[in-house]
Amino acid sequence: MKALRADAAGLRRAAALIKRGALAAFPTETVYGLGASAFDPAAAAKIFEAKGRPHFDPLIVHISDLRQFRSVAAEVPAAAALLARRFWPGPLTLVLKKRPSVPDIVTSGLPTVAVRMPAHPVAERLIKLAGPLAAPSANRFGRLSPTTAAHVLRQLGPRGVTVLDGGPASHGIESTIVAFERGKPVILRRGALPDSEIAAACGLRRVRFAAAGAKVRAPGQLKSHYAPAAPLRLINPGARTDPRGAAYLAFRRKPRGEFLASEVLSPSGDLREAAANLFSALHRLEESGARTIYAERVPARGLGLAIMDRLRRAAASR
Ligand code: TXA
Ligand code: MG
Repeated sequence: MKALRADAAGLRRAAALIKRGALAAFPTETVYGLGASAFDPAAAAKIFEAKGRPHFDPLIVHISDLRQFRSVAAEVPAAAALLARRFWPGPLTLVLKKRPSVPDIVTSGLPTVAVRMPAHPVAERLIKLAGPLAAPSANRFGRLSPTTAAHVLRQLGPRGVTVLDGGPASHGIESTIVAFERGKPVILRRGALPDSEIAAACGLRRVRFAAAGAKVRAPGQLKSHYAPAAPLRLINPGARTDPRGAAYLAFRRKPRGEFLASEVLSPSGDLREAAANLFSALHRLEESGARTIYAERVPARGLGLAIMDRLRRAAASR
């Protein structure tokens, strides 16, 4: 169980681990990732093992420059090139036709690869040293996503994973995933980049969202996901609750009642701040030992849509 300082020595050690086919967890601006070389199928297999993740769920390939982008993506529609120029480095993942150099285990046998250029200096330096990294969020399968190095160590430390500590993630919620159908963007997973920004960049009124059962979709978008240790119950603000043995996740105002623990996502009602605090607040409520976690619904607009996506899946787990 190891955390490395994200200085030059720490980066060299993490890069050396990756180059010899081992794993290293690293910070990004969205959540922490669990990285392996994107071109090494045996190393990628270790990611699935450490996470307990099913093999039908493909990994995102993280790059640090456009040369690496071209080394993994075979075809880039005009809208994808435009979005990459506008939002990279940043919390946007593009699903594109893959090159044969990307192993099947990384894409779960799909003809496409998900690619992202993260906007975090530590991630960028690590990728420059070690090459493109296949990396999912650095949590056990189906559990809360990690936004600090301590979160990573709690879930994956016992599996011998080393993590570069780059402090808390600034967005705190995963990247937005966009695929392309006949050149048009389709959102597969809502995330840190709001739908409206993607639409505006493409000159569209709105961008289509791929619902369950759609032809293009993210195989890992399971109904149950992001689950805290205690069952999560989604409620409207002010709804009746039983505080005994329970914890409470509020959007703007602390709840009344003697809860074991409570967290407020954003007193001013700022959805960006709420997204940034979401997973760290849930990690703390999970640690309180509560038997139930009540979570208030947030407004379903902008980043609220991505937050509600995470809360619904967390609530669906039992
Ligand atoms: O912000 C993020 O995206 C973080 C950081 C570490 O970059 N990563 C992340 O990875 O959230 P993960 O593995 O937890 O979620 C990746 C999602 C999965 O739902 C997976 O099914 C989808 O991306 N995905 C990966 N490759 C795909 C592909 N070729 N086609 C469609 N969906 C894909
Ligand atoms: Mg994940």
